[in-house]
Amino acid sequence: MRIILCGFGTVGQSFAKLLESRSEDLYARYGLKPRLVGVFDTGGSAIDSSGLNISKLIDAKKNHNSVKKYSETENNTSGTEMVNELEAEVLIETTQSNYNDAEPGLTHITNAMKRGMHVISVNKGPLALAFPSLMELANYNQVLFRFSGTVGGGTPILDFAKNSLRGERIVSFDGILNGTTNYILTNMANGMSFDDALGDAKQKGYVEADESLDLDGLDAAAKLVILANWIMGMKVTMPDIKRTGIRKINNDDIKRAAGKNSAIKLIASCDKELVVEPKEIATDDPLCVSGTLNAISFTSEHSGTQTIIGRGAGGTETASSILRDLIDIRNESTKA
Ligand SMILES: NC(=O)c1ccc[n+]([C@@H]2O[C@H](COP(=O)([O-])OP(=O)(O)OC[C@H]3O[C@@H](n4cnc5c(N)ncnc54)[C@H](OP(=O)(O)O)[C@@H]3O)[C@@H](O)[C@H]2O)c1
Repeated sequence: MRIILCGFGTVGQSFAKLLESRSEDLYARYGLKPRLVGVFDTGGSAIDSSGLNISKLIDAKKNHNSVKKYSETENNTSGTEMVNELEAEVLIETTQSNYNDAEPGLTHITNAMKRGMHVISVNKGPLALAFPSLMELANYNQVLFRFSGTVGGGTPILDFAKNSLRGERIVSFDGILNGTTNYILTNMANGMSFDDALGDAKQKGYVEADESLDLDGLDAAAKLVILANWIMGMKVTMPDIKRTGIRKINNDDIKRAAGKNSAIKLIASCDKELVVEPKEIATDDPLCVSGTLNAISFTSEHSGTQTIIGRGAGGTETASSILRDLIDIRNESTKA
């Protein structure tokens, strides 16, 4: 299986390492022989149709800050050129999530689908802004589109709702889908001011380069869009979400909630409408997780409410979700 990898940052590199360390096992257990044939970052590209050497690729990135130094001659093929010209079966999109125009990920994904490639995306931007049309494009071109890592990192939230609860009708759900704001709110519950809690989260590397994605609820809203489309069959995008972030929460609000045995959490909910906003949650509710954890409670017609909890991000965790998607694509495409 030939793969083009768009982006070689935290997730891209973790995925490449995982492919290398799991190669024998992937073949023995799943008959899967993945081959990275093209990788690019903002600096340039590395291409080898017979398969790139992953250790060499990681060394090039580490030593020269770009994969373009993979071979003697620098490769300046652009991402778009690679997606439009290189032969591969699967494209994996791991460039930054952007909620203004979803680029460059959106172009990578649409061009790959038009060329008949299956697509895996951990980039939430294209799904948040164009989920319904991307699904249509995938169906039209008869390719598979998977995105397990966009919600919950390595925690299989989408798989759980779609597959483990199959046959059920999920009527609503509420989730803590952004670990950074949960970390800040947890610190505030322990007495820190908003500014100190934000500073601590930044120091630990939890906050996005554009802090607004976390603090103003954009990241949580993007995940809500993905869940609403995939799980509930809605056809919605970012503008359909009512969104309030956590910037206005102060220590008095937190204390008031604590007096009622509750905690303030940034909750993404899908019931009569789609909303991201800070809400008081009882501390004995399984949804009320601390620190960077994510949690989501699905309420279904017959089996009541179930909560799934796990780490919502992390390079290796998210890379493992890409591997899950790859195995799924291999299984589905060999059925056809
Ligand atoms: N990190 C996580 O835990 C996590 C979890 C779930 C989902 N995600 C999503 O996964 C994606 C990747 O996350 P990450 O943490 O790996 O980000 P990252 O470390 O910033 O990596 C992004 C990569 O994309 C490349 N890139 C960005 N713009 C590009 C462009 N125009 N052309 C070519 N390459 C470009 C960057 O190139 P340079 O290396 O040259 O800068 C970098 O290699 C994001 O969309 C994120 O929201 C991340």
